[in-house]
Amino acid sequence: MTASEPIPGPTTLPRRRLLGAAGAGSAVLLTACGGQDEAGTAQPVAPSTPVDAGAVEDIPVGSAVKVDQEGVQAVVGRPDRDTVSAFSPVCPHQGCMVAPREKLYVCPCHSSQFDLATGDVLAGPAEAGLTPYPVMVQDGRIILG
Ligand code: FES
Repeated sequence: MTASEPIPGPTTLPRRRLLGAAGAGSAVLLTACGGQDEAGTAQPVAPSTPVDAGAVEDIPVGSAVKVDQEGVQAVVGRPDRDTVSAFSPVCPHQGCMVAPREKLYVCPCHSSQFDLATGDVLAGPAEAGLTPYPVMVQDGRIILG
């Protein structure tokens, strides 16, 4: 696998020196739509085409950010220096949007907590983890999809 092939869930970055070059800023087109299901809960808006989610260096190690680019919403984390992970921000409990907090994701509705690296449930009431998005790093840029 090369550094430019998308893989689902967390991805390990190539050596830092390979990330140092500034990204070329690839053009990104997106055709994603989200919404609500019949129960009125939010549905994940997965990227259907590559989405530039920003520079790796803009996410401090051990933290995460929310991304809202061209209709795709995600939470993107950097659990350690060499790993980037991306998930749907939609809580699997009842569809609220989780937010990064310290070294995890927290749902504001009923306080479920999710692991920054894996999206796994750390504390309920959610019984399932966050839905992973394919993510890769290309020229220091985080690419979803
Ligand atoms: S909707 Fe997230 S914990 Fe209930």
